[in-house]
Amino acid sequence: MSILLETPVGQLVVDKPDRAHIFQRFQIDYCCGGAQPLGQACVAKNVDPQIILSEIVNQDSRADVNSEPDWTKATMSALVDNILNQHHEYLRNALPHLGEMAEKVYNVHGESHPELLNVLQTFAGIFQELDSHMYKEENILFPAIKRLEQGTIPPAAAAQLFGPVSVMEAEHAAVGAELEKLRSLTNNYTPPDGACNTYRGLFAGLEELERDLHWHIHKENNILFPRALAGTSN
Ligand SMILES: [Fe+2]
Ligand SMILES: [Fe+2]
Repeated sequence: MSILLETPVGQLVVDKPDRAHIFQRFQIDYCCGGAQPLGQACVAKNVDPQIILSEIVNQDSRADVNSEPDWTKATMSALVDNILNQHHEYLRNALPHLGEMAEKVYNVHGESHPELLNVLQTFAGIFQELDSHMYKEENILFPAIKRLEQGTIPPAAAAQLFGPVSVMEAEHAAVGAELEKLRSLTNNYTPPDGACNTYRGLFAGLEELERDLHWHIHKENNILFPRALAGTSN
């Protein structure tokens, strides 16, 4: 058991992806902060490590319900395509829609809930950051990773990926911090009593955005980037 407490949280999810549900529920960062050992991550979140360990044992004993393939075994190109089709596509659809809702909710309820201005501004920052972030991944880093795997650039060129990868990781961390801020501004995405359907829909949509981004960033930070930097498809 103590070995689990010393294992980085991101690695625990790479080993068994369904464990992400536990970390999401307890708000333990398994993507941007995935290098942190589980024991330390529990202390940082003020969560009893024994509770997390027993949740992991329970989760691991269940049948694997994660419908995704084992991305540590697929080709990097397949993982890149999955990230594009599943996560970037989701963001391209969800971000404008959430932006409109955030503006509408602020316009109607901003007077009685002044924190909605901060929600609107924080969301706008995330939107802008992700827009340029995805552009760089789609046009620079991901094509380079595919070329590396296809052997059209030599394995030694993997070293050239260090710079772009560290920029992407820093941007993930920035978005992760903004998501935490959004969670705290919205009282863990709890709408106030009597909130209208748009208000509720906005908070539910923002929580889904957080869940999807954590999973998306986990695939990049903990699986794709380490494999690309190792210059291998295995
Ligand atoms: Fe991405
Ligand atoms: Fe990314």
